[in-house]
Amino acid sequence: MTENLFQPYALNDAITLNNRILMAPLTRCMADENLVPTTAMAEYYARRADAGLIISEAVIIRPDGQGYPNTPGIFSPEQITGWQQVTTKVHENGGKIFAQLWHTGRVAHPHFFQQGDVLAPSAIAVEGSVPRMRELTYQVPKPVTLADIEGLIADYAQAAENAMAAGFDGVEIHGANGYLIDQFLHYGSNQRTDEYGVTPENMSRFPLAVVDAIIARIGNERTALRVSPGAYFNMATDAKDREVFDYLLPALEKRSLAFLHIGIFDDAMEFDYLGGKASSYVRAHYSKTLVGVGSYTAETASTAIESEQFDLVAIGRPFIANPDYVQKIRQGEEITPYSEEMLTSLV
Ligand code: FNR
Repeated sequence: MTENLFQPYALNDAITLNNRILMAPLTRCMADENLVPTTAMAEYYARRADAGLIISEAVIIRPDGQGYPNTPGIFSPEQITGWQQVTTKVHENGGKIFAQLWHTGRVAHPHFFQQGDVLAPSAIAVEGSVPRMRELTYQVPKPVTLADIEGLIADYAQAAENAMAAGFDGVEIHGANGYLIDQFLHYGSNQRTDEYGVTPENMSRFPLAVVDAIIARIGNERTALRVSPGAYFNMATDAKDREVFDYLLPALEKRSLAFLHIGIFDDAMEFDYLGGKASSYVRAHYSKTLVGVGSYTAETASTAIESEQFDLVAIGRPFIANPDYVQKIRQGEEITPYSEEMLTSLV
């Protein structure tokens, strides 16, 4: 019984989804050497257009936001043209697609860009190295100046405008998974003493400024955000983070975003300082459209939506393994299990 997944869902007056299944953002590292999306990528997304909404893989807003090889950008004219190919094919197949806007902050590596520093709220390095490129250990970032912050906000807004020019239906700001925006929201990475640190209100200032700048540029109906109140990736845990999200979520509620999306790999994970699962915590503090994610099957997602834990579900790895995921679920067919080897090709 997964009937409820196939109900249309109005995000707002501008956008209605054909069903409640989102394709989660999935970095595939398959853009060309200029970080331009390829025809193979356009075909990959087009094959998945029966999702209610596709969230693109994370797309870097500018060169110093890059932390992995061949992740697509949306700052050059060629990249915008490349994305036009993707959005056109998705639309031709009846789908909708948002661009996920990304700056990796301290998870960036200068190996990937010619000019500039690794930027983050504070000079605290993330442990480890770029996946599968072990010689590229993460560096101590340069704390952003107030001028850097202004530049970043402007570049996020420009990226959102570029996404609209590329034909996307909207954008999801990547505020999750330990990347730049999330780095402001956790004490483990934000030890600033100015108006961007110390208090929950200050730590929320940059994330909210990015949200507001993008809303001003493309409208609240086409602006969404992903957040990770539970530190689980690229981030040390600090119980005080709870206070930051207690402040942030009601502030977001006032913005009437297209949706709020949780960033997590397994929503069964419990966080002591959140009093349980990330999705339960967010739902208790945010009453508008919420996207749940993290190791859900169609059945468990359907049950979660039925019990109003969240409104829409994002499916990640199963969509890599099953381009026809939605059709298979609808027809009750067996789902091919995901395995990591599948990441080497775009099927
Ligand atoms: C991800 N995820 C992810 N999240 C995100 O916000 N932006 C991204 O670009 C990526 N990239 C990415 C690549 C790969 C290969 C995986 C497996 C995951 C996280 C993803 O959106 C999702 O939250 C998790 O995969 C959990 O959902 P599933 O896979 O259990 O349905």
